[in-house]
Amino acid sequence: MEPIVIKDLVKDFGGFRAVDNLSLTVRSGTFVGFLGPNGAGKTTTIKILTNMLRATSGSAFLNGVDVVKDPKAAMASLGAVVETPEFYPYLTPNETLAYLGELRGMSPEDIRTRTREVLETVKMTEWADKRIGSFSKGMKQRIAIAQAILHRPAVVILDEPTSGLDPRGMAEVRNILAGLKKEGYTIFMSSHLLNEVQEVCDEVALIDRGKLLRSGPVDALLGSVNVHRMEVRTLQQIDGAWLNKISQLEGVQELRANGAMGFSFTLTGGDQEQAEMLRKLQGIELDVVSFRESGVALENLYLSMIKESR
Ligand SMILES: Nc1ncnc2c1ncn2[C@@H]1O[C@H](COP(=O)(O)OP(=O)(O)OP(=O)(O)O)[C@@H](O)[C@H]1O
Ligand SMILES: [Mg+2]
Repeated sequence: MEPIVIKDLVKDFGGFRAVDNLSLTVRSGTFVGFLGPNGAGKTTTIKILTNMLRATSGSAFLNGVDVVKDPKAAMASLGAVVETPEFYPYLTPNETLAYLGELRGMSPEDIRTRTREVLETVKMTEWADKRIGSFSKGMKQRIAIAQAILHRPAVVILDEPTSGLDPRGMAEVRNILAGLKKEGYTIFMSSHLLNEVQEVCDEVALIDRGKLLRSGPVDALLGSVNVHRMEVRTLQQIDGAWLNKISQLEGVQELRANGAMGFSFTLTGGDQEQAEMLRKLQGIELDVVSFRESGVALENLYLSMIKESR
């Protein structure tokens, strides 16, 4: 049974089509990134899947159960994190999870075991008896993930789970999600960050203006990328004279200083071209400390793919 199947899904708001004939399947055990720019229709799709919104037409199935026809059974196999979670500020994680577990029909025994396990998973064990009201946004988000997996759902759906978090909070949430994938959960996560999807997901579904543009393994999608933004760190100070020399190397485009001891540029080509470029840099006696792709060119590609489809 496929954890998520979306068929010809349409959602109109008045005369505006927010989701436009979307069809998508998420296979068991995969971590799928639902990628699209602001307003693409990600939240709308996720709200239909989680029974917070009714579709105009089309259908959605969770674990084979029709979300519209049998929402209760469909929701039983789902754990979700949608929008900034609201918790009772005066309750602790232990109390909150006990309450939610009871609502979901779990036994007291099961609630106790699972609470311990999920707080461990989201690294919040030492906060189990502190009031949520005092928690940071990142900590609340981890509690939101804990509640989503409490009843061991077959599929976890998250709408931009790292949005509004600082870089460390984002990294922590991504780590936790990568851990869930290892535990065997099927995960469907929306994001507008290509680098985030690249980091944690194994498949990607790209949407814009409510339409599916591409879907498939992240590697296959990114394998088609042949423009890279390269970031280089050096032992030398990169002054005007160095920039001048570097800019004369064949293949270096859009060269920019990056701090005192580094620079970045755009390179067309794949591994072969990157290896050659590194040799050229060393050929002009640059002491290269690190030489790597940064996310910028990927963001460019993402924008260009969206433009292509318009
Ligand atoms: N209740 C509503 N009434 C009218 N229009 C809506 C409503 N909800 C969403 N929309 C519109 O539908 C489109 C898709 O919105 P949605 O929130 O699904 O996008 P998104 O991909 O989640 O974007 P973001 O990255 O900004 O969260 C947007 O143009 C939005 O303005
Ligand atoms: Mg959204």
